[in-house]
Amino acid sequence: MQVQAVSYCHAFPNFKRCHRNAEINAVAYVSPMRPNLQTVKQHSMPPEKRELFKHLEGWASNTILPILKPVEKCWQPQDFLPLSSLPVDQFTDEVRSLRERVADLSDDLFVVLVGDMITEEALPTYQTMINTLDGVKDETGASDSPWAMWTRMWTAEENRHGDLLSKYLYLSGRVDMKMVDRTVQYLIGSGMDPGTENNPYLGFVYTSFQERATFISHGNTARLAKTCGDSTLAQICGTIAADEKRHELAYGSIVSKLLELDPNGAILAIEDMMRKKITMPGHLMHDGRDSHIFDHFSTVAQRLGVYTAKDYAGIVEFLVEKWGLEKMEELDGDGRKAQDYICRLGQRIRKLQERAEDKAAKCTDTRKVKLSWIFDRELEL
Ligand SMILES: [Fe+2]
Ligand SMILES: [Fe+2]
Repeated sequence: MQVQAVSYCHAFPNFKRCHRNAEINAVAYVSPMRPNLQTVKQHSMPPEKRELFKHLEGWASNTILPILKPVEKCWQPQDFLPLSSLPVDQFTDEVRSLRERVADLSDDLFVVLVGDMITEEALPTYQTMINTLDGVKDETGASDSPWAMWTRMWTAEENRHGDLLSKYLYLSGRVDMKMVDRTVQYLIGSGMDPGTENNPYLGFVYTSFQERATFISHGNTARLAKTCGDSTLAQICGTIAADEKRHELAYGSIVSKLLELDPNGAILAIEDMMRKKITMPGHLMHDGRDSHIFDHFSTVAQRLGVYTAKDYAGIVEFLVEKWGLEKMEELDGDGRKAQDYICRLGQRIRKLQERAEDKAAKCTDTRKVKLSWIFDRELEL
């Protein structure tokens, strides 16, 4: 087993970043949001367990692949955007009406949309991450293993999310696309390390959590957009949320299967990821200027109720229920300890958050920050 130098950053919105290592920013094209040096395991799944994933290929073909939608039945970004092949006047009218719809949307909402879009646009990182997982990675780039096919077609479905949000934001005229795209480039260059140790047990726990998190945040953004009068944007975010829900179903079903076939191994993997805390995929976000930009985005998302620490606790509780973790009986001593930890975790996070909120309520200081994404306009945090 090898070790590698990385660290984790906490997933809770509002939490301060756990690492700042500006010294590593020695090269101008590398984001300063690089992890600290800390040891972490690699290839932590025992080699004999690879067989389990081989054994599950038939099940994955019959159960997981059908969760994807045939391309011909999938929506495409053009379905929600002004048709660029229209004569110039008509195209311009459509852009004008888009701009009228977004006129009443707040800068706060745009910051959340930009943060969500940048997170979606770092998709190459997520496909890379899944292809680090032993036993399920795409060995050739076009492998016909159902695990590899899932990953490629999941990526292809996801690819539409960032594309659509990016085009909508571009046409809105409300954000500085050069700074937004620069942030995307930095983020892809930085990558991510969610602590999944090349281990598909850990990897699929991570993706189960993250798909639910994105389902919740896009769904909440849809509701806000509707309240603010942009029904097309609401439809866009709602449609993306529906994709995330399907993806959550797939990844959650894989973990359910692992719990059925290897209850101790699977519950220890869930405990491991929960103890590490689920790192947000965009946690290394940087625009080249503001080393706290991810915190600022997270704070705004928390303030608008788009994604909060309560949502994090809610996801933990949802997964405990979905996977029937409280009722599992076939566990050994370590498995029972893991069960106890996971089943109490949601409540513990809620209590911590309530204490943090009480503290925040007593603090009357407000901070103003300038955000490059919105042309350096100030936001109150
Ligand atoms: Fe997505
Ligand atoms: Fe997703």
